[in-house]
Amino acid sequence: MDLYIGLLGCGTVGAGVVSLVRRRAGKVADMTGSRPVVKTILVRDTTKDRGVPFEHERLTTNPDDVLHDDAIQVVVETIGGIEPAKTYILEALKRKKHVVTANKDLIAVHGPEILRVAAENRVSVLFEAAVGGAIPLVGPLKENLTANEVTDLKGIINGTTNFILSEMTARHIDFEEALAMAQELGYAEADPSSDVDGLDAARKLVILSSIGFQTQVHLSDVRVEGIRHITATDVRYADELGYVIKLLAVGRDRGGELTLAVRPTLIPKVHPLAHVSDAYNALYVRGDAAGDLMFFGRGAGRMPTASAVVGDIISLIRNLKLGYVVSSPNGGAATTKPVVDRE
Ligand code: NDP
Ligand code: HSE
Repeated sequence: MDLYIGLLGCGTVGAGVVSLVRRRAGKVADMTGSRPVVKTILVRDTTKDRGVPFEHERLTTNPDDVLHDDAIQVVVETIGGIEPAKTYILEALKRKKHVVTANKDLIAVHGPEILRVAAENRVSVLFEAAVGGAIPLVGPLKENLTANEVTDLKGIINGTTNFILSEMTARHIDFEEALAMAQELGYAEADPSSDVDGLDAARKLVILSSIGFQTQVHLSDVRVEGIRHITATDVRYADELGYVIKLLAVGRDRGGELTLAVRPTLIPKVHPLAHVSDAYNALYVRGDAAGDLMFFGRGAGRMPTASAVVGDIISLIRNLKLGYVVSSPNGGAATTKPVVDRE
């Protein structure tokens, strides 16, 4: 049996989703009895070359072709930003469609409302791709580590800035040139100031902290500083002193009081985080039972991000077959922990 997917947006991530769904469809059908098929794709310009040859998929500029199609059970949102993505997602949920999204801007700010509407309509919203590209972070924090009090989340969670700082260090190019390369490679956000000013990492820290610390963190709780002001000279002096500069995101829970910050940080060259280069991400997690864990992998780019999106689609299909609604991450966090600014 075919399971129809409606795709909203078909840029870097969306085009990767189309090709990976096609590549995995046979295997998923063998595993679950349902073959995922991208039926309809919403874009702004249906004539644009997207680097993926379309087969039976229908391109449209009318959102109703996805949202009002009763045959579509899963809506995948890869438009990005707040609107119209938020309106489309809420409409899909109210029409009892499950949603998979890569949109951290939206989940970081409107996650609680979206999760509430999903719960009211007994459908799921999954967003593994919103943090860390290919690296499973949301799933482990939501499932595998729930036996722990998580006390520390610390790492590199923006690929664009890590790519820029790595290129400035290794090849002595300037900030603007490195940013242009990150955009060309599909790592940067549509508005790259989100990356370079630290907001993208702050949004991801909000999502990870809300799940990991089992509370509701707000964007305004995070102290944010980006890398726009870092010069080739800063990078060279750091290098001469035995350091590299990394944009670090840090969340700490000390007895129920949180500290949350994103800022450029000097890391000794011998530290494992100093070796996280290109658009790779790495996250340390400390749990009271598990101890220290480190997650590492490609944090941005077409296929790494598609891997996380399509993983969520397959989870949905498996659970639909069993008659379950997949519980959405941090949907139940009703408590609020105080945020202190110790540093
Ligand atoms: P792109 O800018 O490459 O793609 C956006 C797509 O959305 C385009 O196909 C565009 O259509 C479509 N679109 C934009 N506005 C509208 C609209 N109003 N109506 C219909 N379609 C619209 O973005 P990315 O693929 O890079 O990112 C998508 C999402 O994934 C974002 O939330 C981003 O934060 C997230 N993400 C991105 C990663 C990456 O490495 N790039 C990694 C992890 C998450 P058209 O092509 O016709 O203009
Ligand atoms: N612009 C983001 C980054 C994409 O560079 O990390 C992945 O979330």
